[in-house]
Amino acid sequence: MKKAALITGGAGFIGSNLIKALTKSFDQLICIDNLSRGKKEYLKEVQNLHFINEDLSNYNEIKRHIDQLQTQFEIDEVWHLVANSDIPSGVANAEIDLKDTFLCSHALCKCFEKIPPKKIIFASSSAVYGDMGDALIDEKSAPLFPISNYGAMKLASEAYLSAWIEKTKSKLIIFRFPNVVGTPATHGVIYDFLRRLIKDKRSLQVLGNGFQMKPYLLCDDLIQIMIFLKSNIKNKREVFNIGPSDAGVFVKDIAKTACEIAGDSETTINYEDNDRGWIGDVPKFKYDIRKLQQAGWSKELSSIKAIKIATKQIFNQLKN
Ligand SMILES: NC(=O)c1ccc[n+]([C@@H]2O[C@H](COP(=O)([O-])OP(=O)(O)OC[C@H]3O[C@@H](n4cnc5c(N)ncnc54)[C@H](O)[C@@H]3O)[C@@H](O)[C@H]2O)c1
Repeated sequence: MKKAALITGGAGFIGSNLIKALTKSFDQLICIDNLSRGKKEYLKEVQNLHFINEDLSNYNEIKRHIDQLQTQFEIDEVWHLVANSDIPSGVANAEIDLKDTFLCSHALCKCFEKIPPKKIIFASSSAVYGDMGDALIDEKSAPLFPISNYGAMKLASEAYLSAWIEKTKSKLIIFRFPNVVGTPATHGVIYDFLRRLIKDKRSLQVLGNGFQMKPYLLCDDLIQIMIFLKSNIKNKREVFNIGPSDAGVFVKDIAKTACEIAGDSETTINYEDNDRGWIGDVPKFKYDIRKLQQAGWSKELSSIKAIKIATKQIFNQLKN
């Protein structure tokens, strides 16, 4: 039987890049996306793609598609990327993260009850750790107290997927991403700054005091790391922090980089007094990536380099 991989959220920023990277490894790629944030045009060059424009929480409809596809293909891998990626909106309305993050994870598993995939690869986040201050966070750091509904529903999804695979032969790989940057950007700090500057280059308002510090990774590097790791998984369940080799970049340095590209010498940058941009924002975190390195990943990756490259890429995206 022909081999397929399913990518949920595949029309989004990371998903569309992932689909392009996987296209040669499978006879068929299947994407489920309701296009609430993603765009089908991001996937226009992919030949072996079956696109399902549907809400993943809509179990009956999704099950009908999966059952039909499983008569033709062995769906070996499921990459689960659907989520609400707008943290403040989920803080304002908890239903958003419940539906788009947790209930989608739940519906996805239910659809694979008859024929489970060999691997489920879940796009999780540093948000599951909550605010750990200056601690160097490794995969065993605990207790996990998320401070946003986004982080809470990611953690709940991790737990649900872990319990679900127990009755199957599937393996679960959880990747806890840092901040991922690149194109096609659909959200994020660089995207916000550039959109504001393109509208009005006289001033840039930053949420928070600019001293929030986080690690950043280019999407291409993230995908290379995930593809590298998923081939070398031995355990039934695995979790990896994915990040660059450094401690990260200040938001004020991202603001400066955005102004260098989209502002001019007169642009003023305004900050707030708060140490965080919004309720649920973790102002700083540092990843311990030794597990990733011990698994054989040796390329050194830099947050500031990622920011500089992505700012240029996103500026071109927004200008075109
Ligand atoms: N970008 C980052 O910095 C980052 C960091 C940590 C984790 N992540 C995780 O990685 C994954 C991909 O993130 P992204 O940056 O590409 O975000 P994105 O918003 O661009 O992609 C998510 C995709 O899911 C789709 N979607 C949302 N709700 C849906 C639903 N109910 N049914 C069907 N489709 C739905 C959207 O249309 C979008 O195309 C997400 O799970 C996100 O939480 C991203």
